[in-house]
Amino acid sequence: MAELCILTEAQCSPAFNWPTEKLKNQLRALTTKTFIAEAVGSKDLEPLHSRILAFICFVDLGPAVEIPVLATFLAVQRQGIMRELLLQAIAMHYQDRELWLEVHENNQAARNLYRTLGFVESGRRNKYYPDGSAAILCNRNST
Ligand SMILES: CC(C)(COP(=O)(O)OP(=O)(O)OC[C@H]1O[C@@H](n2cnc3c(N)ncnc32)[C@H](O)[C@@H]1OP(=O)(O)O)[C@@H](O)C(=O)NCCC(=O)NCCS
Repeated sequence: MAELCILTEAQCSPAFNWPTEKLKNQLRALTTKTFIAEAVGSKDLEPLHSRILAFICFVDLGPAVEIPVLATFLAVQRQGIMRELLLQAIAMHYQDRELWLEVHENNQAARNLYRTLGFVESGRRNKYYPDGSAAILCNRNST
């Protein structure tokens, strides 16, 4: 977990606003299930001393499943890794479940990703983030 936090802080994206302590708490929570994509036999990530490429947290809330955080490390973004990890996690564990998440209005990469995976933007919380931006609420398989 420590490795995941350090790498996330340093390597994800300047716009990734999950402080290390908050991420640690999310990963430690008994209700959180974390899915990780790892590199197999690659030396590309040697300077990071890690084989972790991407991760997603899911929290089962009963009526729906929330995705509080997900990230792909900067060096390997836009290679289809998150699409594949999300699709596999959903297919294996959450196929017929309603999924919820929220995303910073300016996070176009994440908004595109969610849209192409069938998430619908269903609401908005104005001035939600510390920078005054809105959170866009998204769901999938909503009834
Ligand atoms: C959002 C994020 C997770 C995407 O991960 P990724 O592994 O790079 O995504 P993929 O390569 O699987 O891309 C899948 C689709 O997402 C969209 N996408 C991903 N990166 C994008 C970018 N930089 N600009 C526009 N669209 C993008 C595209 O639709 C892409 O499909 P395409 O490449 O066929 O056009 C990654 O940019 C990231 O970690 N960002 C920082 C953390 C974050 O913002 N997390 C979400 C909030 S918690």
